[in-house]
Amino acid sequence: NEANGAGRDLTIDILHHLESHDPFQSDVAYPDRSQAEIKAALDRLGSRSMVEYDTNDAEQITLTAEGQQIVDEGSHEYKVWQLVKEKGRVPPKDPSLATPSAKLGSGNAIKAGWIKKDGDAFVAVKDSVQDATRETLKYVAELKTMPDQRQLKDFQKRKLVGVTKIITYEVRKGPRWAKEIPLEVTDLTAEMLEDGSWKSATFKPYNFKALGAQQNAGALHPLNKVREEFRKIFFNWDFIEMPTGRFVDTGFWNFDALFVPQQHPARDVQDTFYVSDPPESGLPGPDAPADTALDKMEAESMLFSSGDESGPKKLDYAQYYKDVRAVHQDGKFGSIGYRYPFSDSETQRLVLRTHTTAVSTYCLHRLAANPRPARYFSIDRVFRNETVDATHLAEFHQIEGVIADYGLTLGGLQAFLGKFFEQLGITNLRFKPAYNPYTEPSMEVFGFHRGLNKWVEIGNSGMFRPEMLLPMGLPEDLRVYGFGLSLERPTMIKYAVSNIRELLGHKVDLGFIESNAAVRLDKD
Ligand code: PHE
Repeated sequence: NEANGAGRDLTIDILHHLESHDPFQSDVAYPDRSQAEIKAALDRLGSRSMVEYDTNDAEQITLTAEGQQIVDEGSHEYKVWQLVKEKGRVPPKDPSLATPSAKLGSGNAIKAGWIKKDGDAFVAVKDSVQDATRETLKYVAELKTMPDQRQLKDFQKRKLVGVTKIITYEVRKGPRWAKEIPLEVTDLTAEMLEDGSWKSATFKPYNFKALGAQQNAGALHPLNKVREEFRKIFFNWDFIEMPTGRFVDTGFWNFDALFVPQQHPARDVQDTFYVSDPPESGLPGPDAPADTALDKMEAESMLFSSGDESGPKKLDYAQYYKDVRAVHQDGKFGSIGYRYPFSDSETQRLVLRTHTTAVSTYCLHRLAANPRPARYFSIDRVFRNETVDATHLAEFHQIEGVIADYGLTLGGLQAFLGKFFEQLGITNLRFKPAYNPYTEPSMEVFGFHRGLNKWVEIGNSGMFRPEMLLPMGLPEDLRVYGFGLSLERPTMIKYAVSNIRELLGHKVDLGFIESNAAVRLDKD
């Protein structure tokens, strides 16, 4: 028999070894095999009842590098005592006593009564000493145990020894022990049943512990997860989701209908992406895909209530366009307007929508067919021709909410925003007067973020202007307020992402997307 394990499969070797050593200790028989190797072989044999085994957990004490050094050279106190004894007198400041271990050694040697301070120097007290630490460590090095638990704790604290767990096995023959592993059959076949060979066949046992194959599942993007959280908030409050599928819109819906003057800096190519092919579309009409989608949602909504028993009015898009034009150019509905020549081609230019308020606008216009209190929201992508940096991309997502009702006030908007942001763990709002061409008054919203422990700008809001609402045909006393915020901002905070490019775009790490759990907006 060769040395155990050499040049032979370990499972076969164990079967052979058992012929003359039953039982055997795995650490004695196979000192050079890893525990994992031995365990794998025993499992293979155990599952076939060819061996049986018991597991023993044991602790092994091993020397650290410092412990080994003490075994080789003596303990720190021993070395100090030896030095002092050789030289007769050694001042504590002597360079040979300056190392940390020599300092420790001097202290211990004094405590042990081996040396003492005599005037300005150490002198030896004992002629010969027993270096017990070294003796104990020699013993540990050999036997790998340390019966005295208190001393073990002490040596561990002094980092002289370490404890490692070792697992060993006591192995004996099993009921089906043999020197070879019999050929195993994995499938029961019709032939085996016919010829009766199944009776004597050895079947490969099932491995119920085998891990299943890794499943390749899809993963939701963090932005989509946070979007879902926001959608839930809105749905809980009976908001209806607006149809935001139209990324390309006209200057009319993105700007003009919102009373944004045609010379407004936001309409500059530096801020807005214009589509070059085709560069423009027709004047506003009922072709907006919004109509059918919104109709369906409103019909399904339990909140759907008719404001007018005579049924919806037919929307007159030509009149609407004429009124928007008039309110810009000449003033109308009590407004003096901007008084500039309104361009019909500017209104038809196609843009990548710069805000989801374009969508809110056609939904509000539609509301004029049947004016009544309504709550709409949307969460979708918008585009701005901006310089890209760590917190800005040329495209991002806006969360927008719009509330129409009779007798709404600015205080009501503030109260609503307070309730809304409370859902995100942001309390204590502050409002700063701001400017939007389509709202008056307008307010920037600041919130104290408990997680970040500072005030952060979290949104924009305002009461929509009569210049926007009255041309739509909404009644004068129906007020509408709205607010918007980015989806990226809360997502970056929740997922602790500091660079927006790690969240959106071609540099995103798919591992980050796959491994991140969902978040709770209301928990820090
Ligand atoms: N459209 C605004 C923005 O892009 C947000 C907003 C929506 C403001 C509705 C007021 C009312 O920041």
